[in-house]
Amino acid sequence: MSDFERVAALDEIPENGRLSVVVDDIPVLLVRTGEKFYAIEDVCSHDGQPLSDGPIENGQITCMRHGAKFDLATGAAKRMPATTGIRVFAVELRGTDIYCRESDGAVQPAELQTTATALPTADSGCCGGHNHAATTTTCDQHAPASDVPSAPRSLDEKMLEALRQVIDPELMVNIVDLGLIYSINYDGAKAYVDMTLTSPMCPAGPQLVQQSKMALERLREVDEAVIKIVMTPPWSPDRMTDEARDQLGIF
Ligand code: FES
Repeated sequence: MSDFERVAALDEIPENGRLSVVVDDIPVLLVRTGEKFYAIEDVCSHDGQPLSDGPIENGQITCMRHGAKFDLATGAAKRMPATTGIRVFAVELRGTDIYCRESDGAVQPAELQTTATALPTADSGCCGGHNHAATTTTCDQHAPASDVPSAPRSLDEKMLEALRQVIDPELMVNIVDLGLIYSINYDGAKAYVDMTLTSPMCPAGPQLVQQSKMALERLREVDEAVIKIVMTPPWSPDRMTDEARDQLGIF
């Protein structure tokens, strides 16, 4: 069996994020769920699709192409059309670095000690890849330039509800449940929204911006809505809510 090799620094993978690396010339996906780190072969055993963008739930990753599922710890195929598993890799955390090596069987995830404090939660993954729609908290990277106070909770809910009226014309799912809203702030008259698109080339971008602006400015409390498109971090399917997954038939 090969030796452990360094594949990344801890701060390259945010909480609930993922990172593509190479181990022994094999494409590997590092996955962090909370304080746990897994490493799996980044190739679906069904037809070779990378698993990098697949949603993760209950310790399993779903292939975006035909829906196969694989266990993160064992690599076992958990849903058709995959009938064989994928390779898994042992992970070790050494100081501020992540090491991997191929494993013969199931692996225990490497776990971060709670005393570690230098970990990213608002860096490359912008608040750890969380769906920002659920909160008015902004990360340093995406906060508007001015120090805008957060909206009261009730108004926050109203603004999210307004934005749920805006539907992505390609996926036919509202932009909040798609996870396109990164942050909302309010300064007593203006609403500031950072939102993203499912891809930088999304042709619906201008339409979504305009409709979001109009939806917010219909609220009595909002004189003006300032919508900013941000592409960092990029959107990924794991930002979607369960409702969006249900609508798109992703289980
Ligand atoms: S390529 Fe992954 S399920 Fe078909």
